Parts: sequence; structure tokens; C-alpha cells
Amino acid sequence: MCKLEVNIQSSPKYYPIFINNRDINTLYSEILEYLEGKNYIVVISKKVYQLYANILNFPKEKMFVLKDGEKEKNIKNYTRILDFALKSHLTRNDAIIAIGGGVVGDLAGFAASTYMRGINYIQVPTTLLACTDSSVGGKTAINTVYGKNLVGSFYQPSAVFINVNFLKTLDKRQFKSGMGEVVKYAFIEKSCQCDDDLNLMNFLNENSQKIMDKDILTLADLIKMCIKLKISVVNQDEKEKGLRKILNYGHTYGHAVETITNFSKYTHGECVVSGILFAINMAFKMGKIDKEYKFLSEDLISKFDFPRIPQFDKNKIINIMRADKKAGSDYLTFILPTSYAQVETFKFEPDKISF
Ligand code: GLY
Repeated sequence: MCKLEVNIQSSPKYYPIFINNRDINTLYSEILEYLEGKNYIVVISKKVYQLYANILNFPKEKMFVLKDGEKEKNIKNYTRILDFALKSHLTRNDAIIAIGGGVVGDLAGFAASTYMRGINYIQVPTTLLACTDSSVGGKTAINTVYGKNLVGSFYQPSAVFINVNFLKTLDKRQFKSGMGEVVKYAFIEKSCQCDDDLNLMNFLNENSQKIMDKDILTLADLIKMCIKLKISVVNQDEKEKGLRKILNYGHTYGHAVETITNFSKYTHGECVVSGILFAINMAFKMGKIDKEYKFLSEDLISKFDFPRIPQFDKNKIINIMRADKKAGSDYLTFILPTSYAQVETFKFEPDKISF
């Protein structure tokens, strides 16, 4: 059992993140004890419901089951959750518990941030991506027809409960999608300004087989490292005014690939990896990294067997990147590698980008 703590400097806001590998049936009492008698509803992914509803023990009438898939993160489901919360008589003092991957966490978090102007929410991430990235840091959102995550809020959970055993039943593709965000953390580690010197790149190189074999203790260590890095960034810059932008490493190009392929052909993590490879290549061409670091980075990525995504039409990709909410009107922002485990933010005029 391990407890990490988010302690945001500017607000100030505090919440614990519990990481353990106990039996999943202990989760119910852990959460109930934490809620101290508050009323609650549970928003749970359909897959997780089918696999774990009986073990989890939450009363069926308190569960809102959400179909899986990015397209479920929409305004219709958002209002359905609010209606469910109203029907369940949740007051401002109560809580929404999100059990699932990033889609459930983002959607339930957004509902919690607006229900009666904000109620408690608890994240129980069940995918590697949610355990290592999206469950911590308070980004909540829904998608619209104009794009992904265009409506949302920064709203921190009251607590995060990570039980690594959920990962045992995670399918291979979703597991590797999470590894996309994990390798991101390795490449940005030094820029996260974390007090601990974790050397995640080394850890990934040395433990790649154990990770791919889903060795539970190795995964618990891996999750702790990623969360320590995320906490360090979020504590300093909750609202992404500066430092937090580095968490978007690989995402400018990655989001464009997701959009161009209609959010259906590749997973988020696969697209992030294609964005990281794009950034490595771009940084090398611009003389920001040397051949050795390019090789080392590509070698690390090759250990996790990500699919190769083909290059897309340059103009189409640039137009999509321009529409990205993080882009300024006249330039595109890229996070590029500059040295070992270090990245910096650069702004480019669209016609100066070399693919
Ligand atoms: N997933 C990126 C962030 O939380 O800022």
C-alpha cells in the first residue's frame, strides 16, 4: 500500500492517491470509509461492470453503467449522469465515484464539477492510461462535434484509489495504449522538476519484459513513478499556464492523427507515440537533439511493440493542428526533446514545420 499526495500550491488543494494490489473486493469498504457516510453514485464502465460488479459490491441502483468508447464522452451522457444524480438525491456534500478508464473519469469528473456547482468525486482508474495519467490532475471534459475535450473544467478529485489488479483483465491493446502515456513520462522526466531522481527511462529499458508480462509489482512501481512526475507538474501549474504544457508531449500531432482517423482506427496512446516519434524526428532535423539521443529514444519505443502509424497528408495535419485548442491563431505549439529526458516548448509558423 502506498499513499502519494497532491498538494497544489496556488489554490491550495490537497488530495491523496492510494495505490495497492489488494483483492478488488476491499475497494468498497476503503471508499465507503473515506466517504464517511456521504451519499454517492457510481459511474462505471460497462466492461468493468460486467467483470467486477459482484466483487465490487456497490448496490446496483447506485450504479450508472456507461458504454465503452471515446464517443460516449458526450453531452447526452453528461446530462444523463446529472439526472441520475438528481434522482438519487445527491446533495452538494455528496460524491460521484468514477470507476473505469479515461472516458469515465473525464465525463464523471465534468458532471461532478458542475452538479450543484461542484461536488466531491473519487477516481478509481482501471486502465493503465487512467492509472498513470488521466485520473490525477483534475482535467475533466466531454467531446463535441467540433472536437475532443473542447468543453470541460479543471476540477480536482477528492481522492484517487488505484488497485493494480484491475490491469490483469485489461486487453493488450488498451494496455499498450497506456504505455504510450508512460513512455511520454520517461521522455519528459527532468522537465517535470520532481524532487526524486526516478530515471524512468532506465526503469523501462530494464523492465520492459516484466511490464509487457503485466508483472503486478513492476506495474505498481511504474504507476508510482508516473504519478510522482504528474504530481510534481500539477502542484506547480494546475491550470496549464506554463509547465503543465509538457504533459502534452506527443499530443499536438497525436490529436491530429486521432482526428484524421475519426477516433476509431488508433487508440489515444498509439497516437501519442506517433506524436512522440514525430517530435523526435522534428527535433533531430532542427538540430535540437543528436543522433545518439534519437536512436536511444526510438530504441526505447521499439521495446513496447506499438503499431506503426503511416504519415498523413501534411496540409491536412497542419489544418487540424491549427484548430487544436492549444494552438495560437498564427502559430503551432510543439513540445520537442532537447536532451536526455528533457523537453521544451516551441512555437512555429505552420509553413516553417518540416515533416
Ligand atoms: N494528460 C495531460 C494533463 O493532465 O495535463
